[in-house]
Amino acid sequence: MKTKTLVFIGGGNMASAMINGLLEDGADPGHILVAEPDEARREQLAARFGIRTLDDNREAARQADILILAVKPQALKAVALDLAPTLEQNRPLCLSIAAGIRHASLQSWLGTGVPVIRIMPNTPAMLGAGASGLFAPPDIDQGLRELAEHIMRATGIAVWLDDENQMDALTAVSGSGPAYFFLFMEAMENSARSLGLPDKTAHLLVLQTALGAARMAMESPSGLENLRNSVTSPGGTTEKALEVFATGGLTQLVDKALRAARDRSIELSESMGGNE
Ligand SMILES: NC(=O)c1ccc[n+]([C@@H]2O[C@H](COP(=O)([O-])OP(=O)(O)OC[C@H]3O[C@@H](n4cnc5c(N)ncnc54)[C@H](OP(=O)(O)O)[C@@H]3O)[C@@H](O)[C@H]2O)c1
Repeated sequence: MKTKTLVFIGGGNMASAMINGLLEDGADPGHILVAEPDEARREQLAARFGIRTLDDNREAARQADILILAVKPQALKAVALDLAPTLEQNRPLCLSIAAGIRHASLQSWLGTGVPVIRIMPNTPAMLGAGASGLFAPPDIDQGLRELAEHIMRATGIAVWLDDENQMDALTAVSGSGPAYFFLFMEAMENSARSLGLPDKTAHLLVLQTALGAARMAMESPSGLENLRNSVTSPGGTTEKALEVFATGGLTQLVDKALRAARDRSIELSESMGGNE
């Protein structure tokens, strides 16, 4: 992996997050190349990471052992079709992080002989705390799967999906998920202030509590229900709050919200080419 050249097509937010994670994981900046049309952005990337940049996608792709497609989904078809003749020559492993673009579409745009893996990362990747889902058809060999997984593990955890349709559920859970937790923390923070706590104190208490709860859940062998029960004394304060959540239908509301996100992911995929 250390000797392979990684080429990003598109040097925006998610590419930066991944490059940051890869360099912190020990990748050699001399083996990372970004093709990006915006000159200021290229200069920023080169200065921040010490990596090479180019404004020519084809020239960058020619140098790739691993090609990461990191442009917006709306731009991907044109970019992929333009790269296809180059990729037919050197056949790098292509990873697409574009939301909603199906594997079959990617394969038809990039060319049938090019190995393609679809990935859905999320924004905490920029801190090495991301959660990514990976999907590849059965004909992609184990070595290429391990390479893709290794790259995504540099930005957090990586899980394989065996059915591409699960990508829409994963998008609803981990892709959009950070926003749900931000909303819940925001609501707790507002409430803490209205209960009389100073702004800064309210903010810190909510964030540290969320972090502490997430760490307990990650590190404890108990399931979430057991953890919740263990901090809920009969007749105590937590029980009172949980009763209010239950009466308000929190569990059903969360389920409804995730289904809406999943359905929107399907709609967006269909509007961007479906399985063409
Ligand atoms: N951000 C997230 O949370 C997230 C999560 C999961 C997946 N993703 C996926 O990651 C991909 C990138 O998202 P992002 O948030 O990083 O977007 P972004 O910040 O807009 O990055 C896209 C970059 O690609 C550049 N670009 C545009 N056209 C190009 C072309 N023809 N050739 C090469 N580069 C080109 C853009 O340059 P200009 O700005 O000059 O146009 C921009 O710097 C998307 O497909 C998205 O679905 C993002």
